[in-house]
Amino acid sequence: MTQKDSRANIAAMATNTDTDSGRLLREQYKDGSNLSARIRLHQRFSTNRYGLMRWMFDCFRIPENASVLELGCGTGILWRSSVQVPAGWRVVLTDMSGGMIRETRANLARLGHPFTFAQADAQALAFRDASFDAVIANHMLYHVPDIPRALGEVRRVLKPSGFCYAATMGVANMREIDELAARFFSVPRMTEATARFGLESGEAYMRRAFGEVKLERYPDSLVVTEAAPLMDYICSMRVRSRVTNEQIADLRRHLENEIAARGEIRISKDTGMFIARR
Ligand SMILES: C[S@@+](CC[C@H](N)C(=O)[O-])C[C@H]1O[C@@H](n2cnc3c(N)ncnc32)[C@H](O)[C@@H]1O
Repeated sequence: MTQKDSRANIAAMATNTDTDSGRLLREQYKDGSNLSARIRLHQRFSTNRYGLMRWMFDCFRIPENASVLELGCGTGILWRSSVQVPAGWRVVLTDMSGGMIRETRANLARLGHPFTFAQADAQALAFRDASFDAVIANHMLYHVPDIPRALGEVRRVLKPSGFCYAATMGVANMREIDELAARFFSVPRMTEATARFGLESGEAYMRRAFGEVKLERYPDSLVVTEAAPLMDYICSMRVRSRVTNEQIADLRRHLENEIAARGEIRISKDTGMFIARR
């Protein structure tokens, strides 16, 4: 990336910082701690033991020798699953957050694969037209202020034969948690992300940007047997900043009582991935 390109990216990010939601987003993802709390819950208590990341690799149609771009890579969880990254893949990992990029670089160092890292806003990519065989945008498009612009960038940097992979969640995902947060923290239900780019709302965006679009769903749910990781999950979300210690203590007591009475708390999941090409 040239200096001019990286200045353009920072300028694009600045438009995001000017809004309240942009500020909350930057705070939420200043490093990997919030995201890691959520990933830990899924890793420990998901009923489908195959693994979402392994399933995603099964969905990929990426040649043995390929250029792969990931947008909003977070903590790099996709590459830390049990799957061996093919030696012929040149993988560029990007995220809007410099803190995330630093953490991901450290997380992936032990894999010994020559990943490349860059801080980048999905809405203004500093890559040449038709330079990637695959672009992956997992659980991140719902955060992007201008989704059509980001998908336009994805289409631009994809080779004509390339695929876009965009995982997200459906409206039913974690709905029990949503209801608890609404009840105990007196906040509106947190369906904002799925309303912006979810399994139901995302298809229209994908169809506007790509000629062929298909949706694959990953069946799963959570059976949680400990209150603490569930509290960590709920508190990792931005709603945490607006709630009082008393509200948190009430919710913790409720979860502990539920688990003492029933041995577990069952939570719905609804996750899937759009697979698209020109
Ligand atoms: C929910 S996390 C998902 C991370 C990862 N893809 C995963 O599946 O675990 C969303 C990520 O998108 C990043 N992000 C948000 N808006 C972005 C944008 N406009 N451009 C690039 N990354 C963005 C955040 O910094 C965060 O790391």
